[in-house]
Amino acid sequence: MLSFLAFLALGYLLGSIPFGVILTRIAGTEDIRSIGSGNIGATNVLRTGRKGLAAATLLGDALKGTLAVAIGARWGLDPALAAAAGAFVGHIAPVWLGFKGGKGVATFIGGLIGLAFTAVGWIPALAFAALWLGCAFATKYSSASALLASAATPLVMLALGHRTAALVYVALAGILWWKHSANIQRLMAGTEGRIGSKG
Ligand code: G3P
Repeated sequence: MLSFLAFLALGYLLGSIPFGVILTRIAGTEDIRSIGSGNIGATNVLRTGRKGLAAATLLGDALKGTLAVAIGARWGLDPALAAAAGAFVGHIAPVWLGFKGGKGVATFIGGLIGLAFTAVGWIPALAFAALWLGCAFATKYSSASALLASAATPLVMLALGHRTAALVYVALAGILWWKHSANIQRLMAGTEGRIGSKG
């Protein structure tokens, strides 16, 4: 239990680094929280028109999840899963931003990439990436792509026999869907901004 909490805390600390806020501040753009959707993630950073900055945000937000899981994985799958959950929650509710963070998509896939080096293997990460890219290519909706890929992740894990991982990722996907409540409403109303649009 103590080690579970330790890896959860370690993941949280890494996940709570808000790359979108830090990088846009360094670049001197407008506060990312006051433009577009107000989200601190790469999709919203792209709305500043700075593709490199958006790519760096995506990389940073993903790699913090990968790093947390890679550290946890040295002690086994359960610590790796605890670190993945901690990093995801850290991104969504960073203490540094008054617990008002992002929607967790990049950190979700970053954690899956870290889990690829455990018994879970590459298939969940590859399935997430393929579904996200396929949906994004077809619809140009970042949010819908994340909703689809995240919902599929625990099902893929379950199909592969990784029950604990599937249980953890049901919870993470549920939180991700909850954080996308406004996006879901906009998708249903047909007012959701497409990738690269200013809205
Ligand atoms: O990564 C978050 C994405 O799914 C939606 O972002 O800024 O359009 O709310 P945004």
